[in-house]
This record gives sequence, C-alpha cells and structure tokens, in this order.
Amino acid sequence: MTARPILTAPDPRLQAVSTDVERVDDEIRALVTDMTDSMYAAEGIGLAAIQIGVAKRILVIDLDQKEGNKNPRAFINPKITWASEEMATYEEGCLSVPEIWDDVERPARVKCEYLDIDGKPQTLEADGLLATCLQHEMDHLNGVLFIDHLSRLKKSMAVKKLTKAKKLQAAG
Ligand code: NI
Repeated sequence: MTARPILTAPDPRLQAVSTDVERVDDEIRALVTDMTDSMYAAEGIGLAAIQIGVAKRILVIDLDQKEGNKNPRAFINPKITWASEEMATYEEGCLSVPEIWDDVERPARVKCEYLDIDGKPQTLEADGLLATCLQHEMDHLNGVLFIDHLSRLKKSMAVKKLTKAKKLQAAG
C-alpha cells in the first residue's frame, strides 16, 4: 500500500476530535495498512489516523520492530476502561512533533477495549511502554498532543520551535 505524509504541529487538523468507525470493512483495513506503512516509513512506534489526516478513531502500534521484526497491532475505537493510580514517566516524542522529546507522566497501567482488524471486540491490560503508547495515541483521537501535557512555558517553547522549523522548510 502507501506511506502517506504525516501532519506536523501546529497543523490545526491535529486538534480534530476523531469519530468512531462504524464498520470494520476492507476500506478500513486498507487505511490501517496505509497507517502501518506510514509509521514504518517514518520510523515510529505508533500512529493515529488523524496524523495522516483521517479523523477516525484508529491507531496502530508496533513496539516489536527490533531486528527487522514487524508485529503491527491495530486498535479501532479504543477506550480506556481503567487506569492505575500509580503513575509512570517516559520521555515521549511524536512523529507529528518532530525533534522534540520531553517527560510525560501518565497512569502506569491501563485496561482498554477496542475492535481488532476483523471488527472483533478485544480487551487488553497494558503496562510499561505499551501503556504509555496507547495513552499517547488515544490522546491524538481527542486532538491532544504530548506537548499539551507539558507546562505552559515548555509547550510555548515547543510550538515556537515547530513553527520556526516549518518556516525554514517553506523557505528552503
Ligand atoms: Ni504522537
């Protein structure tokens, strides 16, 4: 299929709230393939559909790419049904927020419900990087970026840096 271009902040489309998928059909499966292709082409570990401009509640994650393995997982209409009180901090980055990484604190463990690529309901309990990644990607479905979790000062510095990078790109 096709790797599509990834939107970068401060593109206003990244603030869109995505809508539920009504039916997991071949069109959705083709979109999921484009999403995983786009994620691999950009060397990411997760991607939400809105990052390629499609406002549907779909994410793909692959934390298992070392040594050439590929094990992409698709989460359609994902919902967090439980989150631990215990928190964990990871240094996060995002394909839509290039060249910026910062610590974000989130619940250490979550349970979620979603539809798989066959449209079957699934549940998952996640911890570690997978828990963080699921929450980061689910934020995208609500128009939230990881820099929105930072202090106002850090966020405004990040937005300035991103805007400047875009101007340079446009000029170059
Ligand atoms: Ni992201």
